[in-house]
Amino acid sequence: MTQKITIAIDGFSSTGKSTIAKLLAKKYNYIYVDTGAMYRAVALFAKKQHFIGEDFFDVEKLISSLDSISLQFRFNENLGFAEMYLNDENVENEIRTLEISQLVSTVAAISEVRKKLVAAQQAMGKHGGIVMDGRDIGTVVFPDAELKIFMTASADQRAMRRYKELIEKGDAVTYEEILHNVQERDRVDTTREDSPLIKADDAIEIDNSELGIQEQFERICKLIDERIKG
Ligand code: DC
Repeated sequence: MTQKITIAIDGFSSTGKSTIAKLLAKKYNYIYVDTGAMYRAVALFAKKQHFIGEDFFDVEKLISSLDSISLQFRFNENLGFAEMYLNDENVENEIRTLEISQLVSTVAAISEVRKKLVAAQQAMGKHGGIVMDGRDIGTVVFPDAELKIFMTASADQRAMRRYKELIEKGDAVTYEEILHNVQERDRVDTTREDSPLIKADDAIEIDNSELGIQEQFERICKLIDERIKG
């Protein structure tokens, strides 16, 4: 039987981690987990409960409500990937708005939130055969992952990609506000006390500012095949 390894993909926001991770999961028949979606769902919950808004955040209320948050990924056959469910409701579209992007880094900085989500992520990956993307997968969630990738790209490139995605979905956003959001999330994600975004010592860095998806995919497949062969 072929060995099923653990693949950790970390990096800055909008570096295309999930696009690559989904392709890898499909090729190797692995489970794909988008951990950003889990933090986004908690931010959506906090927003709906009025625990967080543009200029307020009742951290204690969110912490004391964490037990009432149930998160689940359910595979959608038509889309070919798993969608995020928050307390049995499909929130896949709601969690991708600019509003949630503006709240999520603050929510993700709370240690109690991280503790809950990291435990769930470790449980999902305990048998290997998983591709997980996020910010702390290679450093905290799976420090022993057989393959760790760290993706980077310039803030301009990332903002432009995210801007095009949101415009295509019909969201009324400007490039400037997206760029500001990308830079602000980089700042919060890299400077928070608990599990800041950093490259694990043994991660392989891929700067995809000038790299196409196919090129990145092939490069990572080669690394996976080497790991599987041992
Ligand atoms: O990957 P994303 O942009 O959907 O992630 C949303 C936010 O969640 C991101 O700004 C930081 C946070 N996050 C995190 O702190 N740890 C993870 N493993 C994944 C995401």
